[in-house]
Amino acid sequence: MARVNEHYLKLSAGYLFPEIGRRVRAFAEANPAAKIVRLGIGDVTRPLPPAVLKAFHDAVSELGEEKTFMGYGPEQGYGFLIDTIIEKAYAPLGIRLKPSEIFVSDGSKCDTANILDIFALDNRVAIADPVYPVYNDTNVMVGRSGPPDERGYYQGIVYLPCTEGNGFFPALPKERVDIVYLCSPNNPTGMVADARQLKMWVDYALANDAVIFYDAAYEAFITEPGYPHSIYEIEGAGRCAIEFRSFSKTAGFTGVRCAFAVVPEEVSAKTPSGDRVPLNRLWNRRQTTKFNGVSYPVQKAAAAVYSAEGWRQTMETIEYYMGNAGVIREGLKSAGFTVYGGVNAPYIWLKTPGGISSWEFFDKLLTGCHVVGTPGSGFGPSGEGFFRLSAFGSRDDIAEAVERIRKNY
Ligand code: MLT
Repeated sequence: MARVNEHYLKLSAGYLFPEIGRRVRAFAEANPAAKIVRLGIGDVTRPLPPAVLKAFHDAVSELGEEKTFMGYGPEQGYGFLIDTIIEKAYAPLGIRLKPSEIFVSDGSKCDTANILDIFALDNRVAIADPVYPVYNDTNVMVGRSGPPDERGYYQGIVYLPCTEGNGFFPALPKERVDIVYLCSPNNPTGMVADARQLKMWVDYALANDAVIFYDAAYEAFITEPGYPHSIYEIEGAGRCAIEFRSFSKTAGFTGVRCAFAVVPEEVSAKTPSGDRVPLNRLWNRRQTTKFNGVSYPVQKAAAAVYSAEGWRQTMETIEYYMGNAGVIREGLKSAGFTVYGGVNAPYIWLKTPGGISSWEFFDKLLTGCHVVGTPGSGFGPSGEGFFRLSAFGSRDDIAEAVERIRKNY
């Protein structure tokens, strides 16, 4: 008799964003005249930068010619993209990486989930609360937790509340942990970590032989100078951290799919008998076995993001989204809302008015203003009483949404 992976049954019925989608579709069907503004899931709306699109087209054409056709590429990614990443994304930060330390993939969502393959189940994992739900749910799926308690905390996972009181940055845990997920700029709170905060975690990881999973998918949205764009800007991180970056939000690749993980050769973990094994070796083994790489045209398009033209166009789009973030932030602030984020990240984290619950506010916003956002509690118990708005819409839609919210509250 085939049996299911019972750990899946511990999870709440649906993943957060499809659940929101379901509720919005039901509302739209019942109210066909409503012009709904969607600021829920952080999905980009601006087209690909022209220089990126051209590289994409050219590479597709190459596949149509016998002389330039390609089949399987390297599972780790083509050298042209890896070298470009090293030179354009890391060298300017003073970070030196080897090509063998970069693994191109089809997304950071998959990478942050798949990385669990190479870690023993009995590692103690710490995640922030609220958090990008993938970190929590994938640990439950692999069987690292017991059932959730009445608050929604899964037994066996260490939760690090991020609240107004601690500036939405996780404090060090009281108990020892082996793996910690950090995300900066943060999804969902829109806050960015400074070097001192990251150093605290790097020092902790080095002292406790722990590994940091550093999700930097939104680093390109940091607008203020002085904030680290990579964990490797922090001394010692090259010995304890794996970094995840993505072209999704940076360059409009949520549909195209391209990202990469940095697994430095010096980062290692122990076998039960105490031998050290470089994680780079295991990740390489995992990827070459379970993954056949990202398509050639997509990697060509990704490399073009870093061309002079491509980068200028990419930054224009980011400035557009961050302009949207400013409109939401300032508009809601002047309407009396308490708002966070939106300065170095495309997310605004607002306090629900009058202390109503996140889902109650979601319903009010949907039915009263025809605006969709994401309830904070969907990101974890400490997100209760908060609400996330994404800045990835069109400027007109964003202005309209802010106006409707201002009028109704
Ligand atoms: C979000 O809205 O949090 C993101 O779009 C989810 C993701 O990047 O997978």
